[in-house]
Amino acid sequence: MIHIEQLGKTFQTSRGTPHTAIQDISLDVPEGQFVSILGPSGCGKSTLLYMVGGFEQVTAGQIQVNGKAVQGPGPDRGPVFQEYALFPWKTVLGNVAYGLREQGVSRREAEARAMVWLEKVKLKDYAHFYPRELSGGMRQRAAIARTLAYEPKILLMDEPFGALDAHTRLTLQAELLSLWEQLHNTVLFVTHSVDEAVYLSDRVVVLTGTPGRVREIVSVELPRPRVRAELLRNQTYQEYIIRLEGLLVAEAHA
Ligand SMILES: Nc1ncnc2c1ncn2[C@@H]1O[C@H](COP(=O)(O)OP(=O)(O)OP(=O)(O)O)[C@@H](O)[C@H]1O
Ligand SMILES: [Mg+2]
Repeated sequence: MIHIEQLGKTFQTSRGTPHTAIQDISLDVPEGQFVSILGPSGCGKSTLLYMVGGFEQVTAGQIQVNGKAVQGPGPDRGPVFQEYALFPWKTVLGNVAYGLREQGVSRREAEARAMVWLEKVKLKDYAHFYPRELSGGMRQRAAIARTLAYEPKILLMDEPFGALDAHTRLTLQAELLSLWEQLHNTVLFVTHSVDEAVYLSDRVVVLTGTPGRVREIVSVELPRPRVRAELLRNQTYQEYIIRLEGLLVAEAHA
């Protein structure tokens, strides 16, 4: 579904010197797989996601989605970024219906479909609230519903839970996982959290420090559906955590 080949990204900085953020990344993500990207701060995780999303130009190599080179953003790839703010002047319902309205769906149908998604992310009772009237976790749920509502085949998530408190984060992880177990979209999920990556993913891609390259790809062979409370007691789960933390620490000191 996503084919990334010898991808590179060199920025022209304002100082006039080129800066290589990503070098020679190759990765294939089959349809329906949940893949996390881990790596030290600044290694190019967001840049990689923006390029797959078509928001940022590729400067070397290529990205194909469903056999076609990425030219720009499209409804097949739904972004959920940490800073991807909701429209403050629209209600939660208006925000979630927005993407559908953009695709030419009538207001009535868009709002009906938006309500279905709000129910799935447990925000039905907040449909007529404005984003400023929501908690951080609720806003992030609304942002997820807004993207899921237009049914992108691929979800691109850049630290979507990074700004949340630990408890809300665990709740949203479990909710995302249960939604994904029904939908089975292809997911590229950037995170700093090793246990979040192991809990959610089929594979974890560990990137090296700047410029980011693939250090290792770890397949997470834990049965689904996954229940976090059970995983914590599972030795294989703990071994994945230890192995990935080891890789990250090695990168941070490289
Ligand atoms: N527009 C830009 N112009 C120049 N350099 C940039 C630009 N955007 C990102 N970079 C550089 O690219 C590198 C990767 O940035 P990126 O935001 O992708 O890292 P990241 O892995 O997402 O980091 P973090 O974990 O802190 O979010 C950094 O060295 C950064 O300085
Ligand atoms: Mg980032």
